[in-house]
Amino acid sequence: DIQGVIFDLDGVLTDTAEYHYRAWQRLADEEGLPFDREANEALRGISRRASLMKIIGDRVYSEAQIEDMMERKNQYYVDSIDAISPTDLLPGVLDFLKEIKQAGVKTALGSASKNARPVIEKLGIAEYIDVIGDGHSVERPKPAPDLFLFGANELGVDPAACVVFEDAAAGIEAALAAGMWAVGLGPVERVGEAHVVLSSLENVHWADLRGKLQQLAK
Ligand code: BG6
Ligand code: MG
Repeated sequence: DIQGVIFDLDGVLTDTAEYHYRAWQRLADEEGLPFDREANEALRGISRRASLMKIIGDRVYSEAQIEDMMERKNQYYVDSIDAISPTDLLPGVLDFLKEIKQAGVKTALGSASKNARPVIEKLGIAEYIDVIGDGHSVERPKPAPDLFLFGANELGVDPAACVVFEDAAAGIEAALAAGMWAVGLGPVERVGEAHVVLSSLENVHWADLRGKLQQLAK
């Protein structure tokens, strides 16, 4: 039976994916690098450095320039999340977190972001998250399974008894590599590899979802 739930943050609990996009767009514009919303899709869920590498493509930059660009993007992002409040939780998230807590299931965050902790605080959901796995927790980013395995280990739950909620292809890949159940949030083209695909957490109930996963396990 499922004993642990691991949530990605950006694009699952709140729509900071949009703020990440805007911060990258601003940096790309400053640098004269071609970038748009469509190109941004490939950055969903991947680390800050890996994102920048995709944006710069074949252009050559020194390590110092790369670090400066990561720093600038992060400053734009940090400024934009300053005003985040509980109203920025995506539809259905709070009710779902409450149901899980009620059911006695443990929860972890599995976010690639180094800014995850302040975002969780601002969203007002710290009491619903038992363990925080973020951009500081492990070396290898998604699609490696490390971050989700870190979460399961901290929770003391067998990976096979964990379910991951993710909006990114790299995150679904990481969850499957960790031997966990995967619930994809978003279009099938992006998260279709997941065991269950949902458009959002709105009107999703833990008892139903748990039943569905138990059914699939048979
Ligand atoms: C992920 C986001 O959660 O965190 C990515 O989906 C982001 O878009 C990554 O690049 C790293 O975040 P940060 O805040 O450490 O730059
Ligand atoms: Mg995400």
